[in-house]
Amino acid sequence: MVIKILTLFPQMFTGMLSESIIKRAIEDEKIDIDCIQIRDYASNKHKKVDDYPYGGGAGMVMTPQPLFDAHEYALDSLTNIKTEEKNKIRTIYMTPKGRVFNQDMAKELSKESSLIFICGHYEGVDQRVIETLVTDEISIGDYVLTGGEIPAMVVIDATVRLIPGVVSNEESIVDESHSNNLLEYPQYTRPQEFRGMEVPGILLSGHHKNIEEWRRNKSLEITKNRRPDLV
Ligand code: ADE
Repeated sequence: MVIKILTLFPQMFTGMLSESIIKRAIEDEKIDIDCIQIRDYASNKHKKVDDYPYGGGAGMVMTPQPLFDAHEYALDSLTNIKTEEKNKIRTIYMTPKGRVFNQDMAKELSKESSLIFICGHYEGVDQRVIETLVTDEISIGDYVLTGGEIPAMVVIDATVRLIPGVVSNEESIVDESHSNNLLEYPQYTRPQEFRGMEVPGILLSGHHKNIEEWRRNKSLEITKNRRPDLV
């Protein structure tokens, strides 16, 4: 998968791209992630990317020109797909006004060959950007962050780990929370006893059917208690 991220703060992505599973996925060429500095595409002398909102009000709005040009560059630089296929590429705008992200959306996005993310700042982007370039508006939850970078990282991380081969043990994806609308059962590792706390005996029994049943019951219990909306 090729991912293009339009942002005013590309450095924010450095940590994410240089550690752990995402780093390995890049090295293994499962994903190719490119941050595009929106400011580089501003055609005005001062490289200004925002302006006052028409009609008045607080804050600044990101102007359309740098975003349209940066988006055009992002599409042009997608060398993995044919020109006539480029109108099908999904462009995701991260906004608290969007559809709230969940595991099903991550699964759906993980099947795409390319994705473009637009990270907004200030009071958001000019509506013409949304109406012309954006296919999906996504929120990561009912709270407001300072910009779209952290939300984009959340969506990218959740999506990329579902690409076959990115997470080495496929089972860890099958069993985990939200994969089947259930929260995951509790996990234990060595030592068997720690500060007087014992690992549940059934997990040491070697009886796979009973362990499976115990885990399923724990999953149901935790989900009913914490997230009755999922049951
Ligand atoms: N930008 C600011 N807050 C956001 C949120 N909750 N989700 C997505 N993008 C955002």
